[in-house]
Amino acid sequence: MQKQDKQQKYSYQAGFGNVMQSEAIEGALPERQNSPQRCPYGLYAEQLNGTSFLMPRHQNLKSWLYRIQPSVTHGAFKPVDNGLLRSRPFDQLPPTPEQLRFDPFDIETLREQLDKAHIDFIDGLFTICGNGDSASYRGSAVHIYCFDTPMQDKYFVCSDGDFLLVPQLGTLDIATEFGGMTVAPGEIAVIPRGIRYKVNDLHVEQDKTVSRGYILENYGAPFILPPLGAIGANGLANPRHFLSPTASIEHQDSAERQKKRDCQLINKFAGNLWTAWMDHSPLDVVAWHGNYLPYKYDLSLFNTINTVSFDHPDPSIFTVLTSPSEVEGIANVDFVIFPPRWMVAEDTFRPPYYHRNVMSEYMGLIHGVYDAKQQGFVPGGGSLHNAMSAHGPDAETFQKASQANLAPTQIKETLAFMFESSLIYAPTQKAMDSVHRQTDYLDCWQNLKSNFKIDKSD
Ligand code: FE2
Repeated sequence: MQKQDKQQKYSYQAGFGNVMQSEAIEGALPERQNSPQRCPYGLYAEQLNGTSFLMPRHQNLKSWLYRIQPSVTHGAFKPVDNGLLRSRPFDQLPPTPEQLRFDPFDIETLREQLDKAHIDFIDGLFTICGNGDSASYRGSAVHIYCFDTPMQDKYFVCSDGDFLLVPQLGTLDIATEFGGMTVAPGEIAVIPRGIRYKVNDLHVEQDKTVSRGYILENYGAPFILPPLGAIGANGLANPRHFLSPTASIEHQDSAERQKKRDCQLINKFAGNLWTAWMDHSPLDVVAWHGNYLPYKYDLSLFNTINTVSFDHPDPSIFTVLTSPSEVEGIANVDFVIFPPRWMVAEDTFRPPYYHRNVMSEYMGLIHGVYDAKQQGFVPGGGSLHNAMSAHGPDAETFQKASQANLAPTQIKETLAFMFESSLIYAPTQKAMDSVHRQTDYLDCWQNLKSNFKIDKSD
C-alpha cells in the first residue's frame, strides 16, 4: 500500500527494514534477476551495499538501482573547503565535563562567518560536537543545519555515516536516488551513508524561508528499532509507520533528461568535503529494489509509555532508533524523544530526576517547553551533558515540581529529543567560541538551596 504525504508531493512505501521495490517507468525493474545482460530501457544495474556481503541475512542491507548512467560517471574528486563542518579527529579541544547550552543558531551569523550572502544545505552545516572515528565506523557527530537557498544542481553524499535529520524550522524537500520525501518539523528522516541526495526547503523558492534543524551523523552500525524486552510485541515506534520513497526520475521530461548540464557532487569522505563534476543528475534512478533505503517517520505516531504508579522511568523508554555497538545494551548512539504525554505518577518528583549518566547526551527542542527547564532551553537551541556531568531540573522547575498538586496532568505541545552516545562528545572550537553559547548556563542550578533539616518533625 502506498501512502501520500501531507503536502501531496510524494508517495511512500511503509515498513521499517522491509525489502521494497519501485519503478518510475513500468517494466524498468528486471523481474527474475538483479543484473541481466541488457537491462530494460537500456538502464545500468548497480548494487549499493549498506553492510558487508557476509552480514547475516537479518542484518544484511543492500539495494539494486537501475539508472540512466552508473554512479561512476563523474570527474576527479578535489578537496573543497569544509566550511563549518568538522569531523575526525575531534581533537581541536579536549572534551569538557562542563555542562554546555546553546541558543538557536541563526542564518545571519552563518552568513557573517562564511562570508556568503546565500547559504544552501551544505554551506549551512555547523558541527557542534563529535566522538569516535568515521573511518573506523564508531561514534557520531552532532551538526546544526541552517539554510535559505536551494541546492539546485548541487548534490550531497555522506560516505562517513548516516544522516538523521531533525527539522525544527521549515519543511525539508529531500530528493534522493530512491525518490523524494518531505520532512516537516515533528518528523525525522534518515539518509543512510552512500546515498546521493539534495535538500531544499519545500517553500524556499516562494517566500525565502529559513530552514533549520539538527543532524545526528551516525558513523556506527545502521539504526535499528530498539528491542522491546518486557514491553512485549508492541510499543514505542511501530515499524509500519516508517516510510520510504517511491522511484522517480529527477527530471521526468525526456528532452530535459537528455540535456547535458553541470552537476556538482559533494562527497563527505573521511571527514572532509570533496567535489566532482558530472554532466547529469546523480539521481537518475528509474527503478530499484532492496532494503538499504532512506526513510522518514512522524514522531507523533510514537507510542509513548510512562509510569502509572510512581517515579520517573529511565529515558531509554523513549528510544525511537538505536545504533548498537559490539556490546549488547551499549548503544553507539540512540535517538530518544520526549513527546507529549500524561503524567500521573503519585508521590513523585515528576520532571526528569537529577542524574549523572555514563552516556553522553546532546539534547535539542523542536517546539514547546521541556519539563526539566522552564527557561533558557528553547526551540532550535541545544545542550550537551557529557559522561558523568551532573544535570537535572533548574532551580525554578525544582521549586514548582516539589510543591505541585499531583493531579493527572498532560504535557502538551512539547517535543524535545536526545542523541545519547556511549562515547564522550568533544565540542568543536567554533561551537565553544560561538555567540550562541550560553556562558551562564551553570547559573540555572545555583539557586538550588539546601532544604536539609535534621529534625523530621518540622
Ligand atoms: Fe540527562
